[in-house]
Amino acid sequence: MTLAYLNGNYVAQADACIPITDRGLLFGDSLYEVIPVYHGIPLQAAAHLARLQQGLDTIHLTNPLTQAEWLHIIQTLSQANPVPNQSIYLQITRGDYPTRAHSIPNHPRPTIFAFSTTSPDPDLMLPTTGLHAITLPDIRWQHCDIKTTNLLPNLLALHEARAQGADDAILVRDGIAHEGTSSNLIAILQGVLTTPADSPELLPGVTRNLILQLAKIAGIPCTRRAIQVDELPQANEIWLSSSTREIAPVTRLNTQLIGNGQPGPLWQKMHTLYQAEKLK
Ligand code: PDD
Repeated sequence: MTLAYLNGNYVAQADACIPITDRGLLFGDSLYEVIPVYHGIPLQAAAHLARLQQGLDTIHLTNPLTQAEWLHIIQTLSQANPVPNQSIYLQITRGDYPTRAHSIPNHPRPTIFAFSTTSPDPDLMLPTTGLHAITLPDIRWQHCDIKTTNLLPNLLALHEARAQGADDAILVRDGIAHEGTSSNLIAILQGVLTTPADSPELLPGVTRNLILQLAKIAGIPCTRRAIQVDELPQANEIWLSSSTREIAPVTRLNTQLIGNGQPGPLWQKMHTLYQAEKLK
């Protein structure tokens, strides 16, 4: 039986049901997090919960649980699914009300749920040739820094990329490349690990932060600055990072090969550092 958490109870995932009047469903009035767990140990759980807190503050929703309570849910669900690689999905909505009303209720009673998803072995995820990405216009809103479940523009961009025979899209607004459809953008530009500074245009990725920390310790030069889309074809390497994807090398952008069209040496180094960090 796959276990899920719903509003204080642990139930079989198939029995975890939410009313059709829940604001998360009706308005997308909700936030989520995805926390990877390796051999029972969550990676960067505190950073994920801190980002959740920031998002809750932005949408004026009081966090109904303490950090210890969130950690307990993550631990309970991951222990109930004893696989080497999994991720815990958690979502918090503003709750269920009998009447559909746009106004934000004064006394919310949030809906909270969480479940585990088994992830593939990271070695099997390892791309031998890397990803093919295309650039697409970023049609999202001005609060991409919070992890809202309003992901329709992201889904449509991914769909368009797949329709064009690519693996993913890099989203571009006003000539600036911000991030992937569900990942952050990192480019090695003239040997410098470069990623956009935090802004309302992108999610402050936990994986990306960890990569930056590891890169600094390893003495790899890093900078956070806007990346012009025109700079990308000349990049030495391009990576997409996320909690589920870890670090994926992009070896083809639109019609051009990046570097020599193979995952680059810095990606190999960072991948090795990241795998070691996971098991600490
Ligand atoms: N998405 N940018 C976007 C738009 C994302 O959806 C994600 C992650 C990231 C990377 O964030 P992090 O490194 O903290 O996972 C960046 C998750 C994995 C998802 O939607 O499933």
